[in-house]
Amino acid sequence: MAKQTISISVSGLRKSYKNKEVLKDVNFTVPSGTIYALLGSNGAGKTTIVKILSTLLKPDGGKISINDFDVVYQEELVRRCISLTGQFTAVDEVLTGRENLNLIGQLIRLPDVKRKTEGWLSFFDLQDAAAQRVSTYSGGMRRRLDIAMSLMVQPQVLFLDEPTTGLDPQNRIIMWELVKNLAKQGTTVLLTTQYLEEAEYLADNVAILHNGEILIEGTPQYLKEIIPGRGAQLNFQTEKQAENAMELLTKEGISVESIEPNLPSLEDVFLTLIKENKEAI
Ligand SMILES: Nc1ncnc2c1ncn2[C@@H]1O[C@H](COP(=O)(O)OP(=O)(O)O)[C@@H](O)[C@H]1O
Ligand SMILES: [Mg+2]
Repeated sequence: MAKQTISISVSGLRKSYKNKEVLKDVNFTVPSGTIYALLGSNGAGKTTIVKILSTLLKPDGGKISINDFDVVYQEELVRRCISLTGQFTAVDEVLTGRENLNLIGQLIRLPDVKRKTEGWLSFFDLQDAAAQRVSTYSGGMRRRLDIAMSLMVQPQVLFLDEPTTGLDPQNRIIMWELVKNLAKQGTTVLLTTQYLEEAEYLADNVAILHNGEILIEGTPQYLKEIIPGRGAQLNFQTEKQAENAMELLTKEGISVESIEPNLPSLEDVFLTLIKENKEAI
């Protein structure tokens, strides 16, 4: 079998803010053209990892490389391979959505900037707002513009920091398909998420970040097998059908404890794994 090329390699990564140790010893590799999901609750250090991998923040220790370029010693070469989007990417508030996209296209000397700009505006449903200043955009619109900007580039390695947080379900699915297609075309994707379902659907490999380390890593199938069941989620086609089902269940004396319309939280999974982790020590 041909040796798989590694696009992202992280070994012994450490990072503290003042005296708060956020990353203790993080290790993982991402093969080229695959999707890797970093799962972690709020404050686990996901954004910190993305910032370090994208050269925006210096690690305290460890060896981190992107396409064999060192993020500390070869940051310019790393930046040429990557594109990132996330909670910290700067869209210019004074410019319109369309101007922001055009500007980034010109900055990277992209051919066919106008056509690509219009394409992404339409893809992310931003055509109507394209001529408005970004300062008037809602959170969801900003997020879509931010993602569109990072996709103008068609990067070799793409970082997506909680790409679907703040997106409505329809745009979340559009985003998922987009990420899958990018990986099919050879882009290596590292994404962070708090949603198990997102990681399951998208990622070739999933890692759970907790207490400054990767607690467990594997394919979604592997994680599903070790993660204990937490009941089922039923999806009905219409609200009416859900109501009818509820009535039937009640008639049969089956009580439903709760219905979750959103993606499941990873919190339960963490708590179980972390508890098991402690018991094992
Ligand atoms: N610039 C900073 N200075 C001090 N503490 C920070 C800074 N950035 C993040 N932190 C802290 O580091 C921890 C990890 O943050 P972050 O990487 O943003 O986590 P996540 O993205 O998983 O929510 C949090 O406790 C956060 O409060
Ligand atoms: Mg974050």
